[in-house]
Amino acid sequence: MLTEKDTMQTSDFLPLYGTDFIELYVGNAKQAAHFYKTAFGFQSLAYAGPETGIKDRVSYVLIQNKMRLMLTTPLHSNSAIAEHHKKHGDGVKVLALMVDDAYDAYEQTTKRGGVSSLEPKTLSDANGEVRMSGIKTYGEVEHWFIERKNYKGVFMPGFVGWESTYNPEPTGLLYVDHCVGNVDWNQMNPWVAFYENVMGFKNILSFDDNDISTEYSALMSKVMSNGNGYVKFPINEPAEGKKKSQVEEYLEFYEGEGVQHIAIATHDIVSTVKQLMARGVEFLKVPNSYYDDLLDRVGPIEEDIEPLKELGILVDRDNEGYLLQLFTKPVEDRPTMFFEIIQRKGAKSFGKGNFKALFEAIEREQANRGNL
Ligand code: FE2
Repeated sequence: MLTEKDTMQTSDFLPLYGTDFIELYVGNAKQAAHFYKTAFGFQSLAYAGPETGIKDRVSYVLIQNKMRLMLTTPLHSNSAIAEHHKKHGDGVKVLALMVDDAYDAYEQTTKRGGVSSLEPKTLSDANGEVRMSGIKTYGEVEHWFIERKNYKGVFMPGFVGWESTYNPEPTGLLYVDHCVGNVDWNQMNPWVAFYENVMGFKNILSFDDNDISTEYSALMSKVMSNGNGYVKFPINEPAEGKKKSQVEEYLEFYEGEGVQHIAIATHDIVSTVKQLMARGVEFLKVPNSYYDDLLDRVGPIEEDIEPLKELGILVDRDNEGYLLQLFTKPVEDRPTMFFEIIQRKGAKSFGKGNFKALFEAIEREQANRGNL
């Protein structure tokens, strides 16, 4: 007998099972890989480059629990990867999603208006096969559909296992909770329509400039989710304020639309953030006064306030529970992409109650850069 969940699944033309990997184009993948191992606790997984028959690039794949990060650098100046890096600096190129059938995912999305970026193909080696395809989304970002149910190797054909003598401890990062895109003025609704029409997502939450504004700047945001909620893409666009908003600063320095932040889940945010800070990851800091009336705002929580205050961890509640979160500063020299660390305790929302305190913290950073 079909349950309600099964019915939802069968009516979903693009069933997704989470994020397969995120690929960043970076200036120096060897050094970036070292940073993500040292600072974030990722482990060496796979490698592709000249030694494996790839002539134009190197890619390092890192893993921590269910999260895979691919770092790619071009080996020559005359390539699309080099052009991408010249324009945007380090940033996300591919948000790859796990599917059951990569050929069907391509057919379903392209027939609904999705623009192809990777025609369906099958890669095989002694460990089996990986099927993949891809379509374009905002900016120069692509969604790839990855089908790996018939593959037993470390990552995918074309890659070899990456054995390293340097293996720092993990920090408790588990999987991608959500990925946020910054799009241009008046482009939020067209991209919301893309996720609805081409990918079958639903708009589960909306924030306007009344929700997300400070004295100086504002933004608007809509959260898009796939049917089972495993894949969530909030989309931000700038809104008019007295001064330049954080989304405008991003668009200016990234020179276009792109991924603003990747939120990674943990089961123990206090332990994870403590380790990240000890390894040099820099976080946004809200004023200590944030904690004065915290319990009045969010109600009872299981955690002690003191460690949260010490680490600057933020708390918010919705009608299903609460969440704890914290945002890093940008991880490149351009003020562009950053990470969020999030622990959900029932809450399915995104920390709306923290927006004001957070954006004021971001504006202090913008002012320090002379970009407010
Ligand atoms: Fe977020």
